[in-house]
Amino acid sequence: MKFVIPGLLLSLLAWSIWRESQDRAIASGDLPELEVTRGWALETSCQECHSQSQSFAETGHALTLRPASDPVLRQLIQSLNTTPAAQRDSMQVSTEGRFPRVQHREGQHANDAELDWCFGSGRHARTWVGTLPDSDGATNLLEFRWTWYRDVDGFQVTPGQPTELDSGYYSHLGVLFDQPKARRCFGCHATHLPVDAGQIQVAKIQAGVTCQRCHGPREAHVQTGGSIQEHRWSGLSRDEQVARCAECHRHPEEQTPDSIHIGNPDIVRFQPVGLMQSECFQRSKMTCTSCHDPHQTMESQNSGGIWQCIQCHDGKQDDRPVCGSGQLDNCLSCHMPKVSMDRPVRFTDHWIRIPSEKPLP
Ligand code: HEC
Ligand code: HEC
Ligand code: HEC
Ligand code: HEC
Ligand code: HEC
Ligand code: HEC
Ligand code: HEC
Repeated sequence: MKFVIPGLLLSLLAWSIWRESQDRAIASGDLPELEVTRGWALETSCQECHSQSQSFAETGHALTLRPASDPVLRQLIQSLNTTPAAQRDSMQVSTEGRFPRVQHREGQHANDAELDWCFGSGRHARTWVGTLPDSDGATNLLEFRWTWYRDVDGFQVTPGQPTELDSGYYSHLGVLFDQPKARRCFGCHATHLPVDAGQIQVAKIQAGVTCQRCHGPREAHVQTGGSIQEHRWSGLSRDEQVARCAECHRHPEEQTPDSIHIGNPDIVRFQPVGLMQSECFQRSKMTCTSCHDPHQTMESQNSGGIWQCIQCHDGKQDDRPVCGSGQLDNCLSCHMPKVSMDRPVRFTDHWIRIPSEKPLP
């Protein structure tokens, strides 16, 4: 029972804060090289020389953005037609064309839109969007009202969108984002994002966070058989490395200092923010890759165990004590627990600390 109250408070708080901070991060995020058009190699060329490519295709990074024409995705969004909540909402999906179309009907009136992309690998959730031009031809983005969640294997309202249909909705179908925001959505879920006169070149997007999103454009590297090596990770300091992951996963500097406390659920959603508050991080050389190999799937890294902790807390160093409560196993369940958000999504609390039984502030 002890943990029920904080959990409840957290979910109640989650709604508004999550949305607000998503907007804040989006407002402050600068896009790096991904709009540069030269210097890119074919992503498929890496596999000729690098074993990292073998397992990579199944990772969340690789699958986080896909065209909505994908057969598996079509079948999934079609199942929305049998969801009671969406039926009450007078929402219909048709998958006859290349991309799914969604329609909202009210009396004689019908609004519809084509959804051409799907965000999210499905490890947590999938949100469909439709790109459409504004009056100047710039790409806007319709974020669909219904999102599929793995934890419930079903649809609920998209995170950040109001549960009741109101005037904020675009033709009752979802929320419309202007071009800068549309670009930022794609910016964190794609590798290469060509933009011409405000128009995202949808046909040329390199979707997903793939090799060159982290390793930089590599045309010269491929042409020289690997001799030219730019954008090397090994040349970066620890804090620069973490900042590269935090470009998308969010950095504490994007947060206001008074928002960084354990009662704020954003700290759980944005892993670098929490991790960087912990003693483990501050008093060691820990990076994100101490526990994550970005080239492997999460499942293959056996994340449920204790290896993450005993690589340092091995009982051999005085400054890194083993568990003060005498535990020998399941370190993560107490020190890196999973926390529920307002929608059926759970994230792992990266603020490693002595667990507190006190209610959250
Ligand atoms: C023709 C073979 C070849 C191809 C194709 C190739 N590489 Fe390499 N790569 C190499 C060699 C050789 C090294 C050096 C290995 C070493 O020093 O241990 C290397 C090293 C690297 C490294 C580690 C050092 C560094 O520069 O950071 C990365 C990262 C890398 N390659 C990424 C890529 C990516 C991404 C692609 C696809 C766009 C790619 N490589 C395609 C041959 C290749
Ligand atoms: C370009 C933006 C971007 C960068 C840079 C980035 N990530 Fe991610 N990361 C994402 C997105 C988007 C997802 C969500 C994938 C999904 O849809 O499930 C994700 C998911 C993950 C996951 C869960 C993986 C899974 O298969 O479910 C881990 C772990 C992770 N990132 C770690 C890292 C680390 C470590 C770095 C730095 C080395 C990093 N990320 C850099 C955008 C990024
Ligand atoms: C600052 C970078 C950034 C921006 C901008 C961004 N995302 Fe993400 N998104 C991420 C990261 C990082 C994750 C992975 C979260 C995790 O698993 O910890 C993610 C995850 C997701 C997921 C999977 C569900 C989940 O929570 O894991 C969906 C769906 C998604 N984003 C859609 C969008 C849409 C739609 C937009 C634009 C309205 C957007 N994102 C803007 C970085 C970003
Ligand atoms: C989410 C970011 C990310 C993505 C995507 C990514 N890498 Fe890496 N890669 C890293 C990081 C971080 C390191 C350094 C690892 C370390 O310091 O332990 C690295 C290291 C490497 C190395 C050097 C390995 C070594 O042991 O020296 C190669 C080669 C490489 N990556 C190739 C690739 C290829 C090929 C792909 C695509 C199939 C890819 N990477 C995708 C982040 C990424
Ligand atoms: C001390 C180990 C450790 C470090 C360091 C670490 N993580 Fe994690 N991370 C985990 C564990 C454990 C999970 C849960 C794995 C699972 O569910 O299978 C996780 C899960 C994730 C996920 C999936 C979504 C979630 O919250 O469950 C993302 C994204 C992620 N980490 C990003 C990062 C980033 C970015 C960094 C660097 C700032 C980082 N992690 C550093 C241990 C770590
Ligand atoms: C890269 C090394 C490293 C890793 C990995 C690591 N820690 Fe730590 N941890 C430290 C150091 C160093 C300290 C500070 C020790 C001290 O204060 O004497 C610390 C402190 C702690 C503390 C005390 C925090 C406080 O606020 O007093 C806890 C609890 C803890 N670690 C648990 C864990 C758990 C659980 C894991 C695995 C999820 C883990 N650590 C992984 C290095 C690490
Ligand atoms: C059942 C919950 C639970 C589990 C499982 C657990 N711990 Fe702890 N841990 C605690 C509590 C509670 C404390 C604070 C004890 C105290 O009052 O000193 C603690 C304290 C610690 C500390 C700080 C010790 C100090 O003296 O500063 C470290 C380090 C630590 N744990 C590591 C681990 C590791 C490594 C594992 C897995 C092998 C683990 N814990 C498993 C509950 C747990």
